Amino acid sequence: MPISAPEGPLLQVEGLSAGYGKINVLDGVDIVVGAGEIVALLGPNGAGKSTLLKAISGLLPRHGRVRFGGADISAVGPRETVNLGLVHVVEGHRVFTQQSVHDNLLLAGYGLRRREIDERVEEALGFFPEIAEKRTHRAATLSGGQQQMLAVAQGLVRRPRLLMLDEPSAGLSPVLVDRVLSAAARLRAAGTAVLLVEQLIEKALGVSDRVYALAGGRVVLRAATTEPDLPRRLEEAYFGQGAHAPLDG
Ligand SMILES: Nc1ncnc2c1ncn2[C@@H]1O[C@H](COP(=O)(O)OP(=O)(O)OP(=O)(O)O)[C@@H](O)[C@H]1O
Ligand SMILES: [Mg+2]
Repeated sequence: MPISAPEGPLLQVEGLSAGYGKINVLDGVDIVVGAGEIVALLGPNGAGKSTLLKAISGLLPRHGRVRFGGADISAVGPRETVNLGLVHVVEGHRVFTQQSVHDNLLLAGYGLRRREIDERVEEALGFFPEIAEKRTHRAATLSGGQQQMLAVAQGLVRRPRLLMLDEPSAGLSPVLVDRVLSAAARLRAAGTAVLLVEQLIEKALGVSDRVYALAGGRVVLRAATTEPDLPRRLEEAYFGQGAHAPLDG
């Protein structure tokens, strides 16, 4: 039980704009993620999904407002956002293949006290028995799916309140995709919120409570995953680019 009631959603993004140098990619994005919620962030290639996560975690300069856990983090850099419990596993995150599974997790706990790291490493491995068994093995000996699990586990070592996963299942077989995404469901059960960028729409919807679709740097659809007609609306959002369609969510 929280000691004090949380004020509003865990993550609240308002009017967020960001890009690369003079190229603007995001154009006034509003999204919210509640505590313990899984939210899918979908959209075609180049829509700005990775840019949005980078702007939220402070990896990119941005305009607009980002609130996390009731605090304004609009001007806060990536190191501090991690310490506040907002953890971003970047797209194509690679583990250190020459290091053991265990050492990869210790590295993820950089800056924390050793005793605390040990505790958190065990906690993170608890989510992935498959790699826990291989803790002394070099990461290079893991399958692609196991390496993705290790990348997610590295994020867990920071004990996130919100874990942002950018295509954690990229390049995996359907079975391994299910295994990586099922970790999101278990995280939610443990109270962690997840913002999930995923190319596999059905798989993403299968584990999520709500969905946003991004196209051309704008939110073009927001919906609960239980809403009827969602596949058609998503298709429209993807292919119609829907930039001028009114939101009905
Ligand atoms: N480092 C960069 N410098 C300049 N432009 C970039 C950079 N990274 C991305 N972009 C551009 O920003 C836009 C949004 O890219 P972003 O990577 O956020 O899309 P995405 O939705 O994550 O796509 P994908 O599904 O392919 O991962 C694209 O037009 C892309 O070319
Ligand atoms: Mg991307």
